[in-house]
Amino acid sequence: MLVESSENQLKSTPIDQIKQLVSNEFAAVDRLIQEHLHSHVSLIEEISHHIVQSGGKRLRPLIVLLVAKAFNYEGKDNIALAAVVEFIHTATLLHDDVVDNSSLRRGQETANIIWGNATSVLVGDFLYSRTFEILTKLKNLQVMDLLAKTTNAIAEGEVLQLVKRNDPTADEAHYLQIITNKTARLFQAAAEVATLICDRSPEEVEAMSRFGLHLGLAFQLVDDALDFMGNSEELGKNIGDDLAEGKPTLPIIHALRHSKSENKKIIEEAIIQGAADENLPKILNAITEADSINYTLKQAEYQTELALTALEDLPCSPYKDALIKLVHFSLHRKY
Ligand code: IPE
Ligand code: IPE
Ligand code: MG
Ligand code: MG
Repeated sequence: MLVESSENQLKSTPIDQIKQLVSNEFAAVDRLIQEHLHSHVSLIEEISHHIVQSGGKRLRPLIVLLVAKAFNYEGKDNIALAAVVEFIHTATLLHDDVVDNSSLRRGQETANIIWGNATSVLVGDFLYSRTFEILTKLKNLQVMDLLAKTTNAIAEGEVLQLVKRNDPTADEAHYLQIITNKTARLFQAAAEVATLICDRSPEEVEAMSRFGLHLGLAFQLVDDALDFMGNSEELGKNIGDDLAEGKPTLPIIHALRHSKSENKKIIEEAIIQGAADENLPKILNAITEADSINYTLKQAEYQTELALTALEDLPCSPYKDALIKLVHFSLHRKY
């Protein structure tokens, strides 16, 4: 028995271990998510279940639960807010896979491949609007305001990314603006709403907001590195999607600025046209020569340091330790 349980411990991922710490709350969030997936239109239920049950990491709800616990929260709004951030995240994924033409997510065919683009976009809208329903019940205008601004920022980030697609003049500042909006703002909101419901001081709200922002930036930087060097099976997504779509992510932006002119041309062409399979080895070679993946991961590491600094004044607790673990996971993750 003992051997079996220590084996299980070994097999469980860092995220599983963190989830165990808030297992009751986590189960309540899952129940609430399931409850709110009900619809009179069976296709909506089918697609929502497909994506929600396909095994996402649930990082954003975990942030809400852990931060609230770290401040000894005793109410119930943490559950609804954790469900809300996961709904917003899921809606953005449905939309994002249409925009990015992606065919694999969480190790399964994407909804756009199975049911088509139009259906995916509309079901994404359904999930967004469900969040309004859950949120209004909380009657917390400050929280509503923050989450309204956050969903707005995500949309802006995705549109800005679309504008910069196939544009070789896109630079690091554009890239940072895009990833701040499309990804980091939701991590930031998750940490911030959890602090707001605990009635903490403005300084504490600011620190936790900063924590979420930098964690989110690190998370997306690593995601963009993994798109070049990850393992599709482990990641559950296709590798090389960003390059195929001509997305100027940081590895590409860096390689373009730090390559000899022959390689510059190859990379520029890949951004303008989207990389075709036959050009892939040359582009990957140029990225390796410019050491651009390492550069991207260094930037991610820097963001994780800022995230950890933001946690310094949080009182010691197992929940704080779990938040620190989450930061390390985000930097070293392979999925
Ligand atoms: C994917 O987020 C979208 C990005 C911000 C890169 P996650 O990697 O958290 O997605 P799931 O929910 O675990 O699938
Ligand atoms: C994720 O960006 C952003 C949002 C979901 C809003 P990506 O396009 O890099 O995410 P993946 O790689 O498709 O998960
Ligand atoms: Mg995408
Ligand atoms: Mg990606």
